[in-house]
Amino acid sequence: MILLEILKMFFIELFTFEKLELFIILLFTGPTLYAMLSGAPFVPTQMKQVNRMLSAVPLKSGMKLYDLGSGDGRLVYKANKDYGVKSIGYEFSPFVWMLSKLLQKTLWRSKAQLIYGNFWDKDLSDADVIVCYLLPSSMKKMKEKIFPKLRQGTLIISHAFSIPDLKAIKILEGDSAQKLGPVYVYSISLKSKPKSNSKTKKR
Ligand SMILES: C[S@@+](CC[C@H](N)C(=O)[O-])C[C@H]1O[C@@H](n2cnc3c(N)ncnc32)[C@H](O)[C@@H]1O
Repeated sequence: MILLEILKMFFIELFTFEKLELFIILLFTGPTLYAMLSGAPFVPTQMKQVNRMLSAVPLKSGMKLYDLGSGDGRLVYKANKDYGVKSIGYEFSPFVWMLSKLLQKTLWRSKAQLIYGNFWDKDLSDADVIVCYLLPSSMKKMKEKIFPKLRQGTLIISHAFSIPDLKAIKILEGDSAQKLGPVYVYSISLKSKPKSNSKTKKR
């Protein structure tokens, strides 16, 4: 009888452990898959390209820069270290975010903020500069969802992908010899904000 009870307890424990294991796996892989499919997978920008992107706009100390999908944190780290910019990165993949925190503490010792979270939910209205390396579908969504909330003059630096139907103020052509993709720079103006669908008539 006692043996049966022990066996029962063992199986209950095993069952609970498996559920917990599954929960932990889902907790980590769920957001990672979401970030990969909806935003972009983790592919770090080459350091040469990071420098090209940051030197494409006049960055000044005290400016606020956001990296949407900050990966291992290299762009926010360099922006803070080289230009004294207040840089904030949002990263939704727990693995990648933990890597960025580890690099920040060990190698980079940067004061940049690396925040775990989904950038679509964040208030970016105080941004001077936004950098990103996201899939074309996200660039379109960004134009519709984020642009209307940004200040005029906010600069967007996009690695590899352009924003549909929007004229870039600057394009750094790709360099196939160096395996560097293009860089697109946009400035938020009234024109770059999508037109409102309101049907209110003018009086
Ligand atoms: C192509 S990587 C670029 C990383 C970094 N910006 C760079 O240039 O080295 C895109 C990153 O965006 C993250 N990401 C995608 N969608 C996201 C979202 N909605 N919120 C936060 N991070 C997201 C991915 O997990 C991935 O690490």
